[in-house]
Amino acid sequence: MYQDRIRLASLHSKIMTAADAAALIEDGMTVGMSGFTRAGEAKAVPQALAVRARLHPLQISLMTGASLGNDLDKQLTEAGVLARRMPFQVDSTLRRAINDGQVMFIDQHLSDTVEQLRNRQIKAVDLAVIECVAITAEGHLVLSTSVGNSASFAILAKQVIVEINLAQPLELEGLHDVYIPSYRPTRLPIPVLKADSRIGNTAVQIDPAKIVGIVISNQTDSPSTVLPPDADTQAIAGHLVEFFKSEVSAGRLENNLMPLQAGIGTIANAVMHGLLDSPFHDMTMYSEVLQDSTFDLFDAGKLSFASGSSMTLSASKHAEVFADFSRYKSRLVLRPQEISNHPEVIRRLGIIGINTALEFDIYGNVNSTHVCGTRMMNGIGGSGDFARNAHLAIFVSKSIAKGGAISSVVPMVSHVDHTEHDVDILVTEQGLADLRGLAPRERARVIIDNCVHPSYRTALQDYFEAACVRGGHTPHLLRDALAWHSNLEETGYMLAL
Ligand code: COA
Repeated sequence: MYQDRIRLASLHSKIMTAADAAALIEDGMTVGMSGFTRAGEAKAVPQALAVRARLHPLQISLMTGASLGNDLDKQLTEAGVLARRMPFQVDSTLRRAINDGQVMFIDQHLSDTVEQLRNRQIKAVDLAVIECVAITAEGHLVLSTSVGNSASFAILAKQVIVEINLAQPLELEGLHDVYIPSYRPTRLPIPVLKADSRIGNTAVQIDPAKIVGIVISNQTDSPSTVLPPDADTQAIAGHLVEFFKSEVSAGRLENNLMPLQAGIGTIANAVMHGLLDSPFHDMTMYSEVLQDSTFDLFDAGKLSFASGSSMTLSASKHAEVFADFSRYKSRLVLRPQEISNHPEVIRRLGIIGINTALEFDIYGNVNSTHVCGTRMMNGIGGSGDFARNAHLAIFVSKSIAKGGAISSVVPMVSHVDHTEHDVDILVTEQGLADLRGLAPRERARVIIDNCVHPSYRTALQDYFEAACVRGGHTPHLLRDALAWHSNLEETGYMLAL
């Protein structure tokens, strides 16, 4: 049984139930689990761990690539398993526990986690739990729909539990490109020279003696939850397409643009959809998560290659893609997130990074993570890896949120993830602000004129003019700078409009 999936015969004796595998996890351990943007997470073992913890409480530090699907963060939070969690999450139950101070969340640039592990700057991974489609005859791990941090977790952990997921197609084998950078300071350059460079192995090379358990599972990834494009996100995409056209006219971009990165979520996916109706062709992606829009761009003949760290698709797109995966496979690669998000590679390839802001201010500082400066939404994810190093760092947002109670453009952001120094272009459905080469006072005018919702424009203009009277390189009225956020907390509205 499972000979096509577990090709090293000596490992067959390691097959066990999920409950037995979960019993190998001890209180206080640091556990590294596969999973990146709800793709390729270990499923059966964390579920069994949550069941076990309800009867016999235990707590662990949990590291993953990024967010988990199948409500795993919810189940683990409700069972009280999570003492610490890093580097990213999107679950509303876990978010509450983080914001209540019950779970210590370390919100981290996604390229950085395994660098810190490798260099022993954070607590070592005791045990890795990794979803695979197969184990090779050499005992190496063939990952599933994400690479994330799985390869380094498996390499650095003392013990490894493998989940062989029969619901993940064996055709995924060959898709991955596992390259692990050597130690600093004698590391060689990362040899990714183009989005389609293959520089590593298709499986994770570990000593099979480290595999302490193999669990057979049969559960699909959770489908993506992104919403279809709406009028506002289409308008954002329209502004960006016009901007790219003007860059081509000015000779700063070619018609294939530069390799594209698009962040998670509804807005970024919609923006990529907008490229379907554009004159650009032979585009490539060097991104983290490949969403539905990637495959729509392939089908439209617009995209020639996509490099990512995971594939997170809606149920219908998943069915379509895997009905004929061979159509796409040669045009795809999945890499470890430290390579998909590597600053050196992003800077060299000249990536156009498109990420979503919760809010930005009149000087171009961006908050992607903290509602009203205090409550964690999801985390910075890879947006900082890309924005700091991109050829063009673009942030998109709708100009208002919560039916207009919130302006996404504010006098001063209540938390800074991306400083003005890392932000080139801001886009809302109202328009686009090109901040390149502008000083703060010039930036403010361009942002207020182009990005702000009409119902907040006069108030922001008044704030800026009063601040200019006070003076300064970056003028502010410190007593008023966060008043919009205080109003929101006190009344549910940023301004009485
Ligand atoms: N204040 C408070 N809430 C706000 C807000 C603001 N200024 N702007 C948006 N929101 C709320 C929306 O109302 C929505 O709430 P809901 O879920 O209750 O409907 C929620 O934030 C998500 O916003 P939405 O407009 O649907 O956008 P999205 O799905 O594209 O997500 C981010 C936007 C910023 C939350 C998301 O992109 C993110 O987490 N980014 C950080 C990580 C990142 O950029 N990763 C990229 C590389 S992986």
